[in-house]
Amino acid sequence: MRRFHLAAVLLGVVVLLPIAAAAAAAAAAKAPAAPPGPPNVTTAMAKGGCKAFADLIAASPDAASTYQSAAGGGMTVFCPSDDAVRAFMPKYKNLTAEGKAELLLFHAVPVYYSRGSLKSNNGVMNTLATDGSAKNYNFTVQNEGDVVTIKTAASDDVARVKSTVLDTDPVAIFTVDAVIEPVELFKPAPSPTPAPAPAPAADSPKAGKAAHHPAPAVADAPGPAASDSPPADQKKESKKSAAAGAPCVRWFAAALTAAVAVAVASTLA
Ligand SMILES: *[C@@H]1O[C@H](CO)[C@@H](O)[C@H](O)[C@H]1NC(C)=O
Ligand SMILES: *[C@@H]1O[C@H](CO)[C@@H](O)[C@H](O)[C@H]1NC(C)=O
Ligand SMILES: *[C@@H]1O[C@H](CO)[C@@H](O)[C@H](O)[C@H]1NC(C)=O
Repeated sequence: MRRFHLAAVLLGVVVLLPIAAAAAAAAAAKAPAAPPGPPNVTTAMAKGGCKAFADLIAASPDAASTYQSAAGGGMTVFCPSDDAVRAFMPKYKNLTAEGKAELLLFHAVPVYYSRGSLKSNNGVMNTLATDGSAKNYNFTVQNEGDVVTIKTAASDDVARVKSTVLDTDPVAIFTVDAVIEPVELFKPAPSPTPAPAPAPAADSPKAGKAAHHPAPAVADAPGPAASDSPPADQKKESKKSAAAGAPCVRWFAAALTAAVAVAVASTLA
């Protein structure tokens, strides 16, 4: 019986494994030929009323390569109309090359939403410009009646989704009537400044003028001191228990001796 099992296992390893490997290899060899390839997104945008925006993408190597590689994995683009881009150009020209690329990538999300599913997928969406929590680059999609709008905290204005340029899984491209401004590049002016102020104010009563330096020093000081003291205490503690242990052993030995003596005495008596 056991020998039969062994034979079955060996058969599996020797015969079936190579067959499985061959099948996997065949599938891998087949794979590159199968997909028809994503559409050229800048060409599609240019044809659909976003020529100016497509030109900006083409002029930014980072944005162009990210757009094209994202297209294969599913993507929805909100491309501003030519009028919207024209109105925005003074602000755009003010951005650094990195800021320009991020603004362009901010206009696409790495998920395919058909026109219909876009209406039911309200809420905050990450974009191609999102990079962890350091660069949120998100916007909020909302419905206003029948119109889908896109909003950020950088502006009270919303961008409205207008026409459909392309809507074929895995890529959708919709035009919007305004450039969407990310808070990472266009902060609504005064709000960020008051936030850091309370921190030094809270420290200053304790540490005085140089609030920042003494604070870490004070915070660090108890650290090493605290980590030093427990070992010292533990040493004392263990010494104490060793000292306490010695009399204990002596007491036990004495008691044992006494018990033996009593037993011997009673036997003799
Ligand atoms: C898309 O088309 C444009 C214009 O024809 C071309 O310059 C660009 O290289 C194409 N992009 C890709 C990824 O094929
Ligand atoms: C461009 O930047 C300059 C300097 O920061 C600023 O004064 C100007 O208002 C900016 N222009 C636009 C259109 O944002
Ligand atoms: C969206 O971005 C803002 C600021 O850029 C951030 O505070 C917020 O947590 C982000 N929301 C989500 C759901 O990621």
